[in-house]
Amino acid sequence: MNSRPSKLLFSIAVALLGLSAANVASANEAAAPAAAAGGKPAQVGVCAACHGENGVSASPLFPNLAGQHRSYIEVALKGYKSGARKNAVMGGQAAGLSDADIKALAVWYSSQKPVLYTVSPEGEAKK
Ligand code: HEC
Repeated sequence: MNSRPSKLLFSIAVALLGLSAANVASANEAAAPAAAAGGKPAQVGVCAACHGENGVSASPLFPNLAGQHRSYIEVALKGYKSGARKNAVMGGQAAGLSDADIKALAVWYSSQKPVLYTVSPEGEAKK
């Protein structure tokens, strides 16, 4: 059996399961102090399926978030949540995030070490 589609299905299943867990976590005020201190927000467990724990994606299908500007991440997530930025996957991911969750996720991912690379004339990434 071809492993790619099943891997993708697995990622989506993980993401959907994680999203309900994330909703529970955001309803739980205990998550807030860790976020305020700049700790890893609980929702990172969900995002990691596509964007990686530290914001370095394992697949070119998913953008790297590591080292992205904090305000960019906040604006992107608020856009997905409001529908101003349309993407079926991220719309679902952002729907359950509170403003505090978004802020904590933006702080986390913007403070991770970025992986910069250039692109060859043939369009291949070079580290
Ligand atoms: C099932 C895979 C998947 C999961 C899980 C996921 N994302 Fe995404 N994310 C994507 C894809 C695909 C895009 C590109 C969407 C687009 O083109 O707008 C994206 C885009 C983004 C962007 C915009 C990046 C850019 O460069 O503009 C941000 C920010 C983001 N995701 C944050 C998150 C956060 C935070 C979580 C966890 C709450 C999360 N994502 C969970 C797949 C995922």
